Amino acid sequence: MNQKIIRNLLLAGSLVFSANAFADGPSASMLSNTCAGCHGTNGSSVGPASPTISGMSKDYFLDSMVQYKNGERPATIMDRIAAGYSEEEIELMSEWFQERPFGRIAQVYDAKKATKGKTLHKQYCERCHEDGGRMADGNGILAGQWIPYLRYSMQNFQSGARHMPKKMKRGMDKLVKKHGDDGIEAIVQYYGSQQ
Ligand code: HEC
Ligand code: HEC
Repeated sequence: MNQKIIRNLLLAGSLVFSANAFADGPSASMLSNTCAGCHGTNGSSVGPASPTISGMSKDYFLDSMVQYKNGERPATIMDRIAAGYSEEEIELMSEWFQERPFGRIAQVYDAKKATKGKTLHKQYCERCHEDGGRMADGNGILAGQWIPYLRYSMQNFQSGARHMPKKMKRGMDKLVKKHGDDGIEAIVQYYGSQQ
């Protein structure tokens, strides 16, 4: 084959390639970059207004987005945002974010409450939120998450606005009965203390 034919073949190949890229829609990184304004570059939020979403398991991410999209999970903004994406696009993003490390930023916390929270976490939560809440499984990542967001999640669970798994509810009810809302706040401080 002479040089010219090879060059033409390569050119045709690259055209097919870019046409495919176009037909497939935006890439995972293009989609995910639209979240950076609130969730930070690569999903690690630099401020308390939005949670960090990197490093989460694909399962947890997918469930969360689909619940927001279907109006099954309380939200201030994410219901409207999730509604703008197809399930295929959400799946692409879930893979992309899963591969990015969950960035932890130092936040102000109450050390005394955090110490108490560590004990309570071990007793009531560790069996599903392993490794002090660091485990990235279908249950989300709690360690190092922003404190105001953790409080918001806990309030939504307690009020019944967000569905709580039956066994988690059992643990939570026991915790509240024995330690009241102070127990929940202590656990939240413990998660926030992990940097
Ligand atoms: C305008 C700010 C904003 C933008 C843009 C935004 N989010 Fe959010 N996100 C939030 C807030 C605030 C929450 C907490 C829930 C709420 O208040 O709606 C949240 C919660 C989440 C959660 C749940 C986290 C958890 O721990 O359960 C996921 C997942 C998420 N967002 C994914 C995304 C993705 C993916 C995008 C981009 C397609 C995106 N968000 C764009 C503000 C934003
Ligand atoms: C039997 C297992 C189980 C136990 C025990 C449990 N959880 Fe959970 N937790 C889950 C599951 C599953 C989810 C994901 C729920 C969903 O899909 O929205 C979750 C989600 C959460 C979230 C939401 C994370 C986010 O990013 O919004 C918080 C906060 C939380 N749990 C705190 C706790 C605390 C505190 C305890 C102990 C008092 C506890 N959990 C005990 C299973 C459990």
